[in-house]
Amino acid sequence: MKKVLLIGKNGQLGSQLAKDASVFGLEMFPFDKEELNITDFAKVKENIEKIKPDIVINTAAYQVISLCEQNPLAAMAVNFIAVANLARICKEHHSMFVTYSSDYVFDGTKGSPNGEDDAPSPLQMYGLSKLAGEYAALQVHPDGAFVIRTCGIYGGKKGSPEKGNFVLNIMKEAQDKPAPAKASAGEEVIEVSCEQIVSPTYAVDLSRSTLQLITGGANPGIYHLVNEGVCSWYEFAKEIFTLANIDKELKPKDRSGQGFADSINRPIFSALKNTKAKALGIQLPSWKEGLSTYFNFLKE
Ligand SMILES: NC(=O)c1ccc[n+]([C@@H]2O[C@H](COP(=O)([O-])OP(=O)(O)OC[C@H]3O[C@@H](n4cnc5c(N)ncnc54)[C@H](OP(=O)(O)O)[C@@H]3O)[C@@H](O)[C@H]2O)c1
Repeated sequence: MKKVLLIGKNGQLGSQLAKDASVFGLEMFPFDKEELNITDFAKVKENIEKIKPDIVINTAAYQVISLCEQNPLAAMAVNFIAVANLARICKEHHSMFVTYSSDYVFDGTKGSPNGEDDAPSPLQMYGLSKLAGEYAALQVHPDGAFVIRTCGIYGGKKGSPEKGNFVLNIMKEAQDKPAPAKASAGEEVIEVSCEQIVSPTYAVDLSRSTLQLITGGANPGIYHLVNEGVCSWYEFAKEIFTLANIDKELKPKDRSGQGFADSINRPIFSALKNTKAKALGIQLPSWKEGLSTYFNFLKE
């Protein structure tokens, strides 16, 4: 069995990778942040030397967008410098290195889903730090690094330990609103962005397609892995309300003219296209199928 050192075992993606490993013939050695902080280079080296993994999978990130703007050094430390260090140690130990990146490396001006070969052009510190991490991984360990870009991850009963996820957060917002009969005018309405176009992705589909990719003999490099199809956050929220039988009013809000409330630039069209994985026969379900499967899981 191949050995995998997994970073971020409590995250939406990391916890799913840990569950799926054995099906792909992999033995996982999973770590949370307290057990292995990727900014602690000595400890990273010590663990890689001790476990001698065939593969290192890094799902850790500094990814609250507003915090990245406020603390660019912290964003760079986790998303860039630590990734460069991981890639270097993996190269030295002949381990494959898998790390994740984001739709936010693009500026969204293409107006259709970005493929792996489109030129990145990040608009904010998060995207910049993730792009720096991509370059580092690929330049330091060109023969063994996989950079997987994805978008709008949701998974697990609680979502991301740090920020939940869109599905759980909007259901909570809806739950906290007064019932239509008791609400004063407009109070029960939930506004959701309709100008941002995305490819929301279920952590289970991302985990399994990742493992299929890296155990299937694919060449290292950049891959996009998202659920198929595109939607606005508003359309995604509408589908959530349908699946969850929520009767609160949902209103589309177009912020393209006025900018975002937190004044951070975001790509308007940041959906991705899985060109390279699909050419290898790796097919992810549509975003509607992914969401429906997540709801079945939440009901368990
Ligand atoms: N979430 C999205 O919508 C989205 C979209 C595009 C790309 N991505 C990328 O996809 C990857 C996985 O995202 P996710 O949603 O699964 O993240 P997540 O649920 O927030 O999990 C990330 C995990 O990383 C761990 N972590 C954070 N900083 C760390 C550090 N310095 N050292 C070691 N571990 C650390 C955290 O551990 P503790 O819980 O122990 O603190 C957390 O459990 C990330 O690279 C992210 O940038 C995410």
